[in-house]
Formats: sequence, structure tokens, C-alpha cells
Amino acid sequence: MGQDSLAVDDNNKAVPALGPYPTKIGPEELWEIIDMWEFSEGNKERLKEIVTSDPNVRGPHLFRYYNPKPSRVEAAEKAMKDLIGAKYCLAVNSCTSALMASYRALGIGAGDEVIVPAYTFFATSATVAASNAIPVIVDIDESLCLDPEAVRKAITSRTKAIVPVHMRGAPAQMDAIMDLADRKGVPVIEDVAQAGGGSFDGKRLGSIGTMGCFSFDYYKVIVSGEGGFITTNDEWLYTRAQNWHDCAACWRPDRFARERKEGELFCGENYRMSELEGAVALAQIRKADEKLAGYRRAKRQIKEAIESFSGLSFRRLNDKDGDVGICLIMFLSEPDITRKATEALKDEGVPAGGIYDSKVRDWHVYSYWEHILDRKSVSADGLPWSAVSPDELPKYSRQMCPRTLDLLGRAIMVDIDYNYSETDCENIGLGINKVMRALLG
Ligand SMILES: Cc1ncc(COP(=O)(O)O)c(C=O)c1O
Repeated sequence: MGQDSLAVDDNNKAVPALGPYPTKIGPEELWEIIDMWEFSEGNKERLKEIVTSDPNVRGPHLFRYYNPKPSRVEAAEKAMKDLIGAKYCLAVNSCTSALMASYRALGIGAGDEVIVPAYTFFATSATVAASNAIPVIVDIDESLCLDPEAVRKAITSRTKAIVPVHMRGAPAQMDAIMDLADRKGVPVIEDVAQAGGGSFDGKRLGSIGTMGCFSFDYYKVIVSGEGGFITTNDEWLYTRAQNWHDCAACWRPDRFARERKEGELFCGENYRMSELEGAVALAQIRKADEKLAGYRRAKRQIKEAIESFSGLSFRRLNDKDGDVGICLIMFLSEPDITRKATEALKDEGVPAGGIYDSKVRDWHVYSYWEHILDRKSVSADGLPWSAVSPDELPKYSRQMCPRTLDLLGRAIMVDIDYNYSETDCENIGLGINKVMRALLG
């Protein structure tokens, strides 16, 4: 038998303490981040000196859970919740993840139908199929968002969600869509990827439907490089989305507790946001309204500068005040003149582009989603298409939403940046007038 008494009896520990040691992430990693900001050479040298010369740096965890420091992801969730005006907010690593977790939270699966617009980034409908459900693709209207009348015609007893997408910064017709969804008892998932901070009838997008899904990838309004958020007022859906977003954790709030209620525990994935994205997202959310004001100012100035031309019209805005202002969309009468005008605008230096060209592949237009139109499946089980009999599947074809193709084929989109100076806006207006005068007379 040994002589030593045990710490359990006398509290005399063999290992009184470890460390404190620095974390796995140190100044070298911080330097890589600083290097991305492209400071001037002189400042870079000074920053390098500061970053690498302190021997006592502890470093961050960059993992949102079990972090000894306050989590930036959690702070970003709170800031986003306040900005949008929702009770619950969950940070994820993309809007694709946000959509997937929302569909799963709603229990959408094999044999269910989800109504999506024919004009949206492919992720909106790809995640429906990835959830083993069937995307029902319907036409958009002159606002380039989901047409409520097309939704009404597409609803069946298998419809489990309607997904209005607030395209290119502007809100879908949310009053009509919510009215219809409420009457039919169908949840609404707002895809706010392209309109972060926008609103409809005084309410922020993402707070109107059952759930809101945001993208923070670099091309969006409020950004963190990659990232996304889910907003909802429903605690149960929040809990289920949280469980889908982190299968190892099942935060509910007690990680290892048994199921409190049927439907609380299930197998999910891992969509956690890292603290790096959380920190960037937090700073961005804080300045969201300032950015929005910049976009709107620039758009107003450009729009006011454009003269009236017969044959030129503008996208309908369902709520002028709720438009984020990231672009100005104009319609001409025919695809041919639209193509000509787009090229002429580009030659003038106007940041313009077409939206649909039957010869240019683009994942925003349904006619290129052959993964869906041709009913592709990732596995031999043939899901999601094999879940229902073939005659119950939507009749997919490249021409099935003619109004969408007509509208998009005649649309020109002018990109707007919140940094544009008054001169930039004036010049863009001049460029548009010059081209329209030449082509429309
Ligand atoms: C309308 C829409 N939904 C979803 C997504 C997917 O966003 P993420 O890149 O964050 O996955 C995008 C991104 O382009 C989008 O535009």
C-alpha cells in the first residue's frame, strides 16, 4: 500500500494548476488576418511589430461554445435579433445552412412540397430537395419576387412552406403572401439573403414570416465573408433549428438532457458559426443602418437623374421605403434592345448587367436548375422524387414560368454601392440617359 494520502481526503493536489498557457491561436494567426486589410506599408510594419512583440499574448478560442471569453457569435445573434425585431436568432455558417435548418426545424421531409420562386439563387430550392422535399417552382411578378397569385394556384395539401425571396434588395408582396399562408395554415420562410435590413410595411424582413434566413456572404448587404442567421419568434422552431445546426450539442438549453418533448432530439449536422465570422458580423450589424442609408441615398440620386423615356420602366417596389437600394432595375420592351442597352451602358462605365440571357448559364434563373428540372438524385434511392408517384410530381420544364423569363429577359440591373459619391451617381445617371436617348429616341 502507498504512503501518500489522496487529494480527495486532504485536497493536496499532485497537479495544483496547469498554465495559464496561450491558446492554440497566437500572433501568427492574427498577423494573417491583419495582412488581409492591406494597410499602407509603413503602418503594416508598425502593426507587425505590435502583433509579434508581445510575449504574453493568450490568443482567442474562435469556437463559440465553451469559450472563456464572451462569444462574439452570441453578441452578433443578440444584435441581429434587435435589428430585425425577432425573439430568437441563431447564427449559422451560411444562408444555405439557414434554409436547410429552417426546413428541417419545420419538419419538412420526403413527399412534402415547398413553394419557391423561379427567380432566386439556386440555394433556396436546392435545400428543399436536399431536405428530401419537392420544390414547386412558381412565377415571379413585376417586383421580381414571388407572385402571390402564382402561389395561390400552386398550394396543395402537401404544401409545407412558402418561401418568398426578397430579391435584389426589395421586399416580396408580404401582406398578400402572409394573408394566403395564414388562411391555408402554411408556414412562411423568408429568404432575406439579398435584402438584409430591408422592410415591408415598417417591419424588418425576416420578422414577418414564420422564420427568416439571412446570408452574410461577402456579396450581400451586411457581410462577414461567409455566414448566416435564422430569425424567428417561435421558441420551438428555434430549438429545433439549433439542434439541426449542431448535432453534437443539441443545445436546448441542457446539452445532454433527455428529450423534454417528442421532436426535440434528432440527428442533425454542423453549421456552427466561428468566432471570426461572429466578430465581423457583429461590427457589420452595428453599422447596418448606416450602410442602408448610403445605398438608399445613392439609389435615390441615380433614379431622380434618369429622364423619362417611352419604352423604359422600372421594377415595381412592393414597399418603396423598405427597399435596401442595392440596385436599380429597369425594363425595356424586348430582349434584343435590352442586350444592346446593357452593352452600351457597360461601355459608358455604368455598372450594369443583364439578368437573364437564354445563352448564359446563371444559377439565379430556374431554367438552368437541371438538378431539379431533370430530377437528379444524390443516391440510388431516387429521393426526393421517388417519395411520391410520378404523376404527383410538378411538371418541370425550362419554359414552365414564361412570365419570369419574359421579365428577366427585359431587365437591366444597375449595381449600387453605398460608397458612391454624388459625382458617381450623377455620372451613372448621365450614362443611363445617354444610352436610352440613343436607343429609345
Ligand atoms: C436568395 C439567396 N438565397 C440563399 C443564398 C445562399 O447564401 P449563402 O451563400 O450564404 O449560402 C443566396 C446567396 O447568393 C441568395 O442570393
